[in-house]
Amino acid sequence: MRLRAVLFSVMAVGAMQACGGDDDAPPDPGSGGTTGTQTTGTNGGSTASGGSASGGSAGSGTTASGGSAGEGTGGTATTGGEAGMGGGAGEGGAPVDPEVARGEYLVNVVSVCTDCHTPRNPDGSPDLDNFLAGVECFIDADPADDEVGCLSSRNLTNHATGLMNRSDDEIKNMFLEGVRPNGNALHPVMPYWSYGNMSDEDADAIVAYLRTVPGVEHRLPANQAPFTSPDEPAARVDLDLVPEPETGDPNYESAMRGRYLAAQAGPCLECHTPETEPGTAEPRDLSRAFAGGNMFARDALGLPPIFPETIYTSNLTSDETGLADWTAEDIVRVLKEGVTPEDKPVCPPMPVGPMGAFARLTDEDALDIANYLLTLPPIENEVPICEITAP
Ligand code: HEC
Ligand code: HEC
Repeated sequence: MRLRAVLFSVMAVGAMQACGGDDDAPPDPGSGGTTGTQTTGTNGGSTASGGSASGGSAGSGTTASGGSAGEGTGGTATTGGEAGMGGGAGEGGAPVDPEVARGEYLVNVVSVCTDCHTPRNPDGSPDLDNFLAGVECFIDADPADDEVGCLSSRNLTNHATGLMNRSDDEIKNMFLEGVRPNGNALHPVMPYWSYGNMSDEDADAIVAYLRTVPGVEHRLPANQAPFTSPDEPAARVDLDLVPEPETGDPNYESAMRGRYLAAQAGPCLECHTPETEPGTAEPRDLSRAFAGGNMFARDALGLPPIFPETIYTSNLTSDETGLADWTAEDIVRVLKEGVTPEDKPVCPPMPVGPMGAFARLTDEDALDIANYLLTLPPIENEVPICEITAP
């Protein structure tokens, strides 16, 4: 059903109570969970990507470019490589660099960078020819006025108008610290204040993968008020305030891995934790971590009227108003299939369903996240459920 195509992303929109424009849409993985991924060229040079081609046709978007990220190894772009190498890599074909593969998984699945950085076709599907090339007016807070209200995401591809000429440290400074090479701060709609808690290995893997993304020429416009560069980057999430499982918990190790995925490498904390007043240094109220209630306007998500006007993020804590009666399997099913125990489809912008980014989570990662959520201390917060009405 096409609704699925319109899903996801835009945690941002809620964050800004902005609306209008059908900004984002999904960049997801192809159906079947196949990645239309990268094949490494030699020399750690370029890799073709295309991120998520559906149906295994890594076809479009697979022209590698960018040459090697400054390695100098005569690394001109290889094209596509054998896209379709599926399991066959390893023998014969060029091996997929494990660091690049990890980065691909983070960018396209766990951290959902793609959701905000890839423009969409009119039908809501990701525009793979412009994979990760940035979305003009990603949020339009005032569609009636061309002079104000636009925030664009940026070009992350290997082109001069993207990240090609940025050093690894410059790139990491942007997505982990919120600081541009010229010292300006990024707007906190870009969740650097959360990604800043990911491991060095994962941050490096993201950079390694981004170096393989085919270059697309795309210069994005400057942001307009109220989205101009803040004086200071937003404060990083204080991990001491993010609930930890009890050390005696039988699933402790798994839940700790889940905590990392939900609150450091991934965006669950961000969408499911109440926002603070605009202008506050900390973008989220961590005393109510995972209690939900963040709002997204249906119109801002470009959804049809069968959805309620406002969609709220769910309370994921173990309270009666949250996931008190849920099992780990129930949560895994939401993540991978997009349906609740009552068989209700979960509404956008939660990136689930067959085409949602989380459909490609590994079974282990999905279970780790579920085990973590089950350890969250209860916080009472009754949130309206998104009921989809028959047309
Ligand atoms: C919720 C949407 C959203 C998500 C998710 C997101 N970004 Fe962004 N990103 C943005 C926006 C919007 C900007 C522009 C901010 C500004 O101009 O102040 C941006 C800017 C950036 C920049 C600055 C580029 C430049 O040249 O100025 C980098 C780098 C970046 N993002 C990388 C990432 C990576 C890597 C991920 C995933 C780990 C990611 N983003 C996830 C919305 C997002
Ligand atoms: C872009 C925002 C966004 C992100 C990111 C996000 N969610 Fe959600 N999530 C939502 C919204 C909105 C709903 C409510 C949809 C509805 O009511 O149908 C929801 C619903 C859920 C539900 C169903 C709860 C219920 O009571 O029906 C679970 C479980 C869940 N999210 C877990 C997660 C986990 C785990 C992550 C990270 C891996 C995550 N979410 C990331 C927006 C988000």
